[in-house]
Amino acid sequence: MTSLTGKKIIVTAGPTIEALDPVRFLSNRSSGKQGYLIAEALAHRGADVRLVSGPVCLPCPFDVTRIEVESAREMLAVVEAELPADVFIAVAAVSDWRPAETHARKAEKSAVATTLQLVENPDILHTIATRKTDRPGLVIGFAAETHDVRERARAKRRRKDCDWIIANDVSGDVMGGDENAVWLISDHEETVWPRTQKAGIAALLADRIVAALSEM
Ligand code: C5P
Repeated sequence: MTSLTGKKIIVTAGPTIEALDPVRFLSNRSSGKQGYLIAEALAHRGADVRLVSGPVCLPCPFDVTRIEVESAREMLAVVEAELPADVFIAVAAVSDWRPAETHARKAEKSAVATTLQLVENPDILHTIATRKTDRPGLVIGFAAETHDVRERARAKRRRKDCDWIIANDVSGDVMGGDENAVWLISDHEETVWPRTQKAGIAALLADRIVAALSEM
């Protein structure tokens, strides 16, 4: 029996990819490292972890159930199918847009250059945080910012309706690197976790979740 035994936690991680045609897609530089380390730290504390992952080059952490997806819409559908859960943590770098049209066959270069249109993807964090039924008791988002980190993260927490935001400054070499420095922001707290290994951030977050669930 460990501290998160009996708790189900859904974690999204990695990028999403949004197909333009069978060979081309839109995506971003997320490595998935931080989300995978969080999933691992939670499983280590006994949680039943569902890691909903976009395409990454990482092995599935020990004792974690990974569900692999490609697009934002697939990621949202899997997260919703996994509810109810005690905690939802949105670490994924979800692609903000997808091509309005996905071609069944390889698209012609010239046609795409003149006609490509993008539409916004669903916001998974906001969708889960504002659910009328089955809203997890603790919903946590991430905010990667290059400037005004705390102010922007504070506003993002309110906009997304999540309980905590983990805010990080990505102006340096955080994306793809092994270290991170973050702020944990809730409605009554702003705590800094100075630069450390991403595994250290994962352990701090997992311990905070243990403490929060024990008070619920
Ligand atoms: O709006 P922004 O992308 O900065 O928000 C970041 C937070 O929202 C992260 O927790 C990310 O996983 C989540 N997110 C999401 N679905 C989106 C966009 C962001 O779950 N479409």
